[in-house]
Amino acid sequence: MNIKKLFIYLNLLLFMNIFSLSQLYANEGATGIIKERMDKFKMSKSLMKKINKGLQNDDFATIEKSAQILLNWSKEMSNYFPEGSDTPPSEASSDIWLDPEGFKIAIKNFELASLELIAQSQNKDFDMTVNSFRNLAKTCKGCHQKFRN
Ligand code: HEC
Repeated sequence: MNIKKLFIYLNLLLFMNIFSLSQLYANEGATGIIKERMDKFKMSKSLMKKINKGLQNDDFATIEKSAQILLNWSKEMSNYFPEGSDTPPSEASSDIWLDPEGFKIAIKNFELASLELIAQSQNKDFDMTVNSFRNLAKTCKGCHQKFRN
């Protein structure tokens, strides 16, 4: 691994940690649709880690495959948030239903960023792939800031 790559990698690790500590025990006792979406989000996190690893190894095929799974999730995510499903231990904010347009946009941003990562990984351009991975991570964080307690 060259220095530049190492640097990018360390950077990304820092980024990932922003959304990894707070929810270690968050879904104890969760059931039904809340549990299902928590599992999907946990899967999203491991996919992001997988993509991060893929970047270290120039493994564009893994990056593309993982981004494709995130894209699929983005398309069904809205079905996992029936009105009022913000009871503990869910961390979903009631703003999801107070500002449905804003929530829709946050999902759309996530969808578009996943698409972009797929496109860049197909081009096998390292720098552009890193950039689109960062942008994708920003859409996770952006939605959490607004719609997760
Ligand atoms: C459009 C909004 C939105 C996007 C985009 C989004 N999340 Fe979330 N995420 C949420 C909400 C809301 C919750 C809280 C769900 C709950 O507790 O019911 C959550 C919860 C989580 C959790 C905690 C799950 C648990 O076990 O309690 C993780 C981890 C997570 N998201 C990771 C990610 C990652 C990684 C991405 C991007 C690849 C992402 N999320 C994109 C809204 C979003």
